[in-house]
Amino acid sequence: MKSFPLEPVEKAGVDELRALQLKRLKSTLRHAYFNSPAYRRKFDAAGVHPDDCRSLADLARFPFTTKADLRDAYPFGMLAVPREQCVRIHASSGTTGKPTVVGYTRNDIETWSTVMARSIRAAGARPGDMVHVSYGYGLFTGGLGAHYGAEKLGLTVVPFGGGQTERQVQLINDFRPDIVMVTPSYMLAIADEFERQGLDPRECSLRLGIFGAEPWTNDMRQKIEQRLKIDAVDIYGLSEVMGPGVANECVETKDGPTIWEDHFYPEIIDPDTGEPVADGELGELVFTSLTKEALPVIRYRTRDLTRLLPGTARTMRRMEKITGRSDDMMIVRGVNVFPTQIEELILKDAALAPHYQCILTREGPLDALTVAVEMAPGRAHDDSAARAAAERLAHHIKSFIGTTARIDLRPAGGIERSLGKARRVVDQRPR
Ligand code: DLL
Repeated sequence: MKSFPLEPVEKAGVDELRALQLKRLKSTLRHAYFNSPAYRRKFDAAGVHPDDCRSLADLARFPFTTKADLRDAYPFGMLAVPREQCVRIHASSGTTGKPTVVGYTRNDIETWSTVMARSIRAAGARPGDMVHVSYGYGLFTGGLGAHYGAEKLGLTVVPFGGGQTERQVQLINDFRPDIVMVTPSYMLAIADEFERQGLDPRECSLRLGIFGAEPWTNDMRQKIEQRLKIDAVDIYGLSEVMGPGVANECVETKDGPTIWEDHFYPEIIDPDTGEPVADGELGELVFTSLTKEALPVIRYRTRDLTRLLPGTARTMRRMEKITGRSDDMMIVRGVNVFPTQIEELILKDAALAPHYQCILTREGPLDALTVAVEMAPGRAHDDSAARAAAERLAHHIKSFIGTTARIDLRPAGGIERSLGKARRVVDQRPR
């Protein structure tokens, strides 16, 4: 079977990779310091200068960048090139306050397309494939990021975008794409729509799905793979660092996204102390861009929790599948709970569907958690079997996670479907 060749850097040894990273890191620090007043102020305040970086470990001496830094500089204050040199602007939605704005030079778009092409290839794309893109187009980086990468690889792209679920199914049936790129939660909504139209999703043309933009568990992977008879591969990224394609899983191992370390240097830190932790330890993922021009990011705190793992399919390191963002962590009666932990338990029960939300309310001084979850298609949500399923889930949450949750069973379709990122936590606590 024909396949795409790897880029030489994907086959580079660790020493060669580290040398390249150090060279690029030094130049990125200089670029940020000398061309972005915001970075110069931050470095000066921390008493560091780009010349202080002599090894990769020296990066730890430099200050972090946070979403707040980007917001304070809204809209274009962090740019390290004149705005006129940006050929594209994206912005992340930002559930609260101002969005974070990112800019790209022509070279940045080229770099992004390259890592996206690399990602799609690692996911198992083959020459001649057709890609149906259901990530949203627009300010969100998902649609255009996927689009440019797939085009660069030479694939046929169907730029559908999010929404119009009925038509998504129609076009997948008519055009017969090999690959779909979409959030895992919206993939499930598309699969539901196949069934609603009396079609078996397993019979569709798709061979591969490249899913990301939100946390999803390995149980969810299995569920999607079985429901659609495809390979389901994880893609990771964030707008501040570039967009999708910062890391991508290799289909032959499916063991967590490989970080494209020649462009994005990863660190894991203790989120409380800010101190770097060793590879293999859990903490907050931090990225430094190594080649970006318009908006270099120095030690950007992603708030995503994971650990760095040794390379398998590539020399570059992997990250463990993200278990949660610190923003999504709920504290219920003193216990830290992530939606993905609930997801794992829901997916183990055949009576339940993988559509769920965690609803937080306040009861007196305490926070209370209600898990709203749909029954599997064809099952009642109010008979004795349903009540038994609710009891089972509450029991599992208590014994595996250690907290009490109320279960609100809903009939099929009873949980709002997102067209992009699913809203897993609904916070109804009074402010
Ligand atoms: O979600 C970029 C993207 C688009 C990635 C399409 C993958 C596919 P933002 O809107 O800035 O950018 O959101 C970034 O989404 O910090 C994570 O919390 C979360 N996220 C992204 N990919 C994954 C993933 C895009 N594979 C934020 N697993 C990140 C878990 C993910 N969480």
